[in-house]
Amino acid sequence: MITIVVAMGLDNEIGADNQLLWHLPKDLNHFKEITSGHPIIMGRKTYESIGKPLPNRTNIVVSRKKDWFEEGILIVGSIKEAVKFAKKIDEEVFIIGGGNIYEQTLELTDKIEVTLVKTNIKADTFFPKISPKIWNKTEEVCHGKDDKNEFDFCFQTYERKVKLT
Ligand SMILES: NC(=O)c1ccc[n+]([C@@H]2O[C@H](COP(=O)([O-])OP(=O)(O)OC[C@H]3O[C@@H](n4cnc5c(N)ncnc54)[C@H](OP(=O)(O)O)[C@@H]3O)[C@@H](O)[C@H]2O)c1
Repeated sequence: MITIVVAMGLDNEIGADNQLLWHLPKDLNHFKEITSGHPIIMGRKTYESIGKPLPNRTNIVVSRKKDWFEEGILIVGSIKEAVKFAKKIDEEVFIIGGGNIYEQTLELTDKIEVTLVKTNIKADTFFPKISPKIWNKTEEVCHGKDDKNEFDFCFQTYERKVKLT
């Protein structure tokens, strides 16, 4: 099972200047809960934006750089290699971004865990369109903004209608 995890705004915006667009501690907790104990795959730019390996998860970072080394992460040269390594570690694999990696992996993915943030923010990175011909929304739980979480948001699960072979 390959699952994408993404937080996006109403226009599918996910990032600007290599940063996230909002501060939502409830979403960060949700992310931690669903990915902990499983391998996570990310692009080099997302890794650099986070700045350190995420604990209790094998961090697999995709890069074409030949001479790049960082302690505590597994660096691979292609998405195919990333998925191969991740599947050896666990049958539940999570793809955590960013935009470039989502574009290339949506077609390999069985499930998408979306946090839909109810706002529009100027961005330079976007999630691809989730086509209703391919994806079924199977779950939705919404939360209102509060003093720590600056926007209303919904956790949504999308499952692929036609299973991958
Ligand atoms: N809202 C969210 O849920 C969320 C989640 C994650 C990230 N983000 C945001 O997304 C933005 C970053 O996304 P991005 O699209 O700019 O970058 P990215 O997808 O994180 O990383 C792109 C990099 O990955 C490597 N790469 C991509 N495809 C590859 C392939 N086929 N083979 C080998 N290496 C490959 C390349 O690294 P090299 O240049 O080293 O070769 C490329 O420059 C940031 O703003 C971040 O905050 C948002």
